[in-house]
Amino acid sequence: MLVKVFGSAVFGVEATTITVEVNIDKGVGYHLVGLPDNAIKESSYRIAAALKNNGYSLPVKKITINMAPADLRKEGSAYDLTLAVGILVATGQIKAEELSQYVIMGELSLDGGLQPIKGALSIAIKAKEEGFKGFILPIHNVKEAAIVEGLDVYGVENVLQVIDFFEGRGDLQPTLIDTQTEFSRTLEFPEFDFSDVKGQEGIKRCMEIAASGGHNIILIGPPGSGKTMLAKRLPSILPPMTMKEALETTKIHSVAGKTKEAGLMSQRPFRSPHHTASSVSLVGGGSYPQPGEISLAHNGVLFLDELPEFKREVLEVMRQPLEDREVTISRAKFTITYPSSFMLVASMNPSPGGYFNDPNAPVSSSPAEMQRYLSKISGPLLDRIDIHIEVNPVPFEKLTETRKAESSVEIRKRVTQAREIQSKRFENFDNLHYNAQMGSKHIREYCALDEASLSLLKTAMERLNLSARAYDRILKVARTIADLEALENIKPNHIAEAIQYRSLDREGWLG
Ligand SMILES: Nc1ncnc2c1ncn2[C@@H]1O[C@H](COP(=O)(O)OP(=O)(O)OP(=O)(O)O)[C@@H](O)[C@H]1O
Ligand SMILES: [Mg+2]
Repeated sequence: MLVKVFGSAVFGVEATTITVEVNIDKGVGYHLVGLPDNAIKESSYRIAAALKNNGYSLPVKKITINMAPADLRKEGSAYDLTLAVGILVATGQIKAEELSQYVIMGELSLDGGLQPIKGALSIAIKAKEEGFKGFILPIHNVKEAAIVEGLDVYGVENVLQVIDFFEGRGDLQPTLIDTQTEFSRTLEFPEFDFSDVKGQEGIKRCMEIAASGGHNIILIGPPGSGKTMLAKRLPSILPPMTMKEALETTKIHSVAGKTKEAGLMSQRPFRSPHHTASSVSLVGGGSYPQPGEISLAHNGVLFLDELPEFKREVLEVMRQPLEDREVTISRAKFTITYPSSFMLVASMNPSPGGYFNDPNAPVSSSPAEMQRYLSKISGPLLDRIDIHIEVNPVPFEKLTETRKAESSVEIRKRVTQAREIQSKRFENFDNLHYNAQMGSKHIREYCALDEASLSLLKTAMERLNLSARAYDRILKVARTIADLEALENIKPNHIAEAIQYRSLDREGWLG
């Protein structure tokens, strides 16, 4: 008997429905065709054990399984359940009249239990699009799949539940989540709040500007000055995620098998890979391609703590994605693309020993050591960072203050207003939404300076010996500062403030 059952393959962040045909004939053998990889070929052992342990069997017959479309590579062990159900129906062990209305995915344990799968959200979206009635998947992933409305999503713990479901026994119910309500409920309360940070008004102002214009930022300061603490709080002042952004980000986390309890991610992600991270874990790839940290940070913040400690080649591979806001992974037979639009926050100590020009520092570094340390971050990556700011530890009296500082929600209101001005300004551009994304043509158009501002900038560039690359950055940041005041024209005080955020361009740093 020939039976058709449906599974799904995920490439990048999009799913494609896979038709699995199971044919049973006289004879002996188990043949899988249609570009399955080794993990799928090994499925027969898992299926045989799982069925046997639950009172069913993988009969000694000639079993031929075809997975279509044949030219698409199918990977991983998530087709176990699809194949098992197909075999049960094709061998007449169970009846399943509604089989063709469901997408079924799950990895089997030998006892018939189910293991989580990757990409459940993308699969659910595709299943809905193609008019399937439901999606049966491991219970671990049910919340991310149930985000999709108009599709019955069933989370199951073992193969027996699936058998009972198709045979009309048991009481398996679809999981229903009111996504919209969940989404708006969780938006308001950030996990880390700026009100926890004592003092540091200057740095907070700077981060507000960075968030407002989407500017990448680097924090420079000695150990314990609060760099990590500050960076962690940046997502909380970015404008709230839209539903579209939340879905994009959740999809990537789902594909990486990293969704948490909640299902839909309504908070912007904060990713903080360690400086020993490999290029693959940072930008994505591998033999079963997976999204990397820069994609897990999509629509949120990527924090590179101790930037100069990262391997140079690792920083190199980030350049293109930083520019393109997506990363393309090429293999001999296919290429896939993951989105990677994030704000970069980097931190560094002022020197390899941790201190700079500080007579009280416990360690000091030679000029050669300094040079080596700083040369690692100069060039391409630093060129994409608009704001440099020095972070000094807050004095003890400030730390012990009990007065609560301004909350992230308050700061976020101003950021959101400034962003709205920018969205309006750039409404006729496709890939331009906020000031940091401006190219030199846009800068000339939208950052025009009056005489006073121009002469201030000229003097400052000469006096502080600022490099040419600083020029455009200063204009962009000044534009954002003016937007925070809802002013049409950039004023000298905006330029003056923006100039302060170029520490690393001054003499003594990178020269
Ligand atoms: N302004 C502040 N308000 C409240 N607590 C602070 C402040 N600055 C630092 N702290 C405290 O000091 C701790 C250390 O700060 P943090 O880890 O952010 O420093 P850092 O600059 O990242 O240091 P390192 O260079 O060692 O990574 C924080 O966990 C926090 O408890
Ligand atoms: Mg730190």
